[in-house]
Amino acid sequence: MIYYENISVDDIYGSLVKKTVKNATAEKVNCDYRELFEKNQYFYKPPFSKEILNSAEISSGGEYSPENCSPLFSVAIIVPYRKRANQLKAFLNYMHNFLRKQSIHYKIFIVEQADSKAFNRAKLFNIGAKYALKENFPCLIMQDVDLMPLKLANIYVCTERPRHMSSALDSFRFNLPYFGLFGGAVAITSDVFIHVNGFSNMFQGWGGEDDDLYARLVHKGYKIIRFDSSVAQYTMLSHAKESPNPDRINYLRSGYLRFDTDGLNSLVYTERAIKPMELYTNISVEI
Ligand code: BGC
Repeated sequence: MIYYENISVDDIYGSLVKKTVKNATAEKVNCDYRELFEKNQYFYKPPFSKEILNSAEISSGGEYSPENCSPLFSVAIIVPYRKRANQLKAFLNYMHNFLRKQSIHYKIFIVEQADSKAFNRAKLFNIGAKYALKENFPCLIMQDVDLMPLKLANIYVCTERPRHMSSALDSFRFNLPYFGLFGGAVAITSDVFIHVNGFSNMFQGWGGEDDDLYARLVHKGYKIIRFDSSVAQYTMLSHAKESPNPDRINYLRSGYLRFDTDGLNSLVYTERAIKPMELYTNISVEI
């Protein structure tokens, strides 16, 4: 077992960055988050990915804000995507059921690679971040479409420190495989993401881009954090294994040479369409 610094369930609330896009309306009381952490309830049940409950609560574009209280958090959830319709459906159903239990303001952006080039997860995250930043989201959660959080205390908002969220993944037997893993699902404040110049745009195909983001964070002096493994549990939907990018190790080794010149500030792509769908905002791009 690898030792890593983590936040216990009792300390989570105090570690969160309380920031929203909109000002809280005066007549509503603040949402209460205590129960989430007191109970750390297991939420994952298969029906939650099959259907969406009370879908009328969700606004077009895949946005939600609690009706009865003022949320203390706003988050943009950014998901890179190409041709996994069944997983997307399960993800959206489940996540809208899960996230509304957390009384947060959130919006889901699906960034779809609409060309046949090698999949570029990191570049799609950069593109999604650009749109989320335009809408003033203070916190970005970047996650794969095949991951589902199991515990309600795994609140989808940012901590002061960049957070690796999926540290207890079923496909890794709920263990962290290596200390610097920063893949799967991560939460990072918009300010920090801009400060490290986002992800590299150069990693095509599977692997390495998340390790490069970790190196960017370390280079700028940030220390990542994780929630305790009783909270940070995920299940991964099954899919065929992608073939690893043979250049990933070379790119990683030389990555530091490009931290300041390859990233958010050098992002080039073609926007095909941006469409508010019922359960998400679709950003379709050619990279
Ligand atoms: C890859 C990462 C990946 C990790 C876990 C590493 O070897 O470089 O991109 O997230 O393995 O699968």
